Amino acid sequence: MAALVDTRRVLLKFKGFPQLIPRRYRVKKKWAATLPRITSTKLALQNFDVNYGTQFGERWPSIRVSLLSEQKYGALINNFSSAQELMKGLELQGARDFVYEARARTWSPGSVGGKPQGDEELVWSSSLAAGQSGSEVPLSGQVGEGVEMAAATEPPSLSPNIKCFTFPKGDVTGFSPARLDGSGLLGYYLLDAASVLPVLAMDVQPGHTVLDLCAAPGGKTLALIQTQACWRLAANDSSVSRTGGSRRILQSYIPREHSTEDRVRITSFDGRRWGELESNTFDRVLVDVPCTTDRHSLLEEENNIFTRSRSKERQTLPLLQSQLLLAGIKAALPGGVVLYSTCTLSQLQNECVVERAVQVAHEELGVTVHIQDLSALTQLFRDTFNFAQGMRLGELVLPHLTSNFGPTYFCKLRRVN
Ligand SMILES: C[S@@+](CC[C@H](N)C(=O)[O-])C[C@H]1O[C@@H](n2cnc3c(N)ncnc32)[C@H](O)[C@@H]1O
Repeated sequence: MAALVDTRRVLLKFKGFPQLIPRRYRVKKKWAATLPRITSTKLALQNFDVNYGTQFGERWPSIRVSLLSEQKYGALINNFSSAQELMKGLELQGARDFVYEARARTWSPGSVGGKPQGDEELVWSSSLAAGQSGSEVPLSGQVGEGVEMAAATEPPSLSPNIKCFTFPKGDVTGFSPARLDGSGLLGYYLLDAASVLPVLAMDVQPGHTVLDLCAAPGGKTLALIQTQACWRLAANDSSVSRTGGSRRILQSYIPREHSTEDRVRITSFDGRRWGELESNTFDRVLVDVPCTTDRHSLLEEENNIFTRSRSKERQTLPLLQSQLLLAGIKAALPGGVVLYSTCTLSQLQNECVVERAVQVAHEELGVTVHIQDLSALTQLFRDTFNFAQGMRLGELVLPHLTSNFGPTYFCKLRRVN
């Protein structure tokens, strides 16, 4: 007993100076057995507290609590099912079609609060593209140096066939699972309602050829098909198993005659190589990249990118994302639209990726890309979503307790030549 007390005394004396503890009293730490392993969700939260705390300042605590709270959903109506009765039922429950309501706002002149009504183009000047790397560009505040506003054109056009129901702001009622109709098709698809915004921003017009470069599990592919404007749609994802999921979703929602191989082509290529396979081909390209999927990373241990073994993969995400965006730019026709989107708040994975891809397209491919201002579009949806203010490039839906959608970042680019 006396020896034990002595040992404690020796250790206390040298606390803070481990190298001074006599060798016979040193204890080797047993990492695996004694230290609790930090979970991936905790690691994600620590990472976000550091990075988003800096990025969002005093707004971060409110975004943080929303991310950790229950997410809100939207019900994307399946036009191929018996939708009329279903929509009446949803209205009776208090849900409303926020896309229809936004479209109605475009019908009455001057109702967009005096804001410009067009998809204005932010022209990325070649001097900026040639002279600055992504990280040197200021990352907050208003439209930066070298990015000019061009004249307004037309009001945003919203597909009349995309119908998505949500419960109003502050109402946290959930949707019941979708049911099969008489012909065996599901009536709606539950998704983060903000995921519909990138598809609306693509402005798919009848006869367009469309590429969805990272398509699985298929929510946005389904929304693209709902526009009923795609003449041909290529839905690709590098993951074979996730592509199988996309196939199953299409089988549950789309009649066979509308998803034949010549109309909807499902493939499993590495999207980074698409530009070499089919360049200058598509009117519209959706590049919905893999990212840190912030909500998932905070709440689910399974398939969490903050797992220690995936740290390299996580760190190289911005590189993969800019390569995918560049492939999307190559695949677009001159004059075509490329829509970049993520479900992360990270500037490194959002604006910086867009900046980098535009720069490389200019320098290495001689392709000019104009970034389009989407503020007139987001203005139409501000009753439903909480948009970040002062974005330089693209738009960001911020999670908020009263409208807990997102994060969804989307940026619209037009390939010029
Ligand atoms: C955010 S998810 C896409 C979600 C999908 N657009 C939707 O709305 O359901 C990103 C997808 O990118 C895929 N992906 C990852 N690396 C890829 C690559 N090199 N080429 C193509 N797809 C890739 C992943 O398998 C994942 O399914």
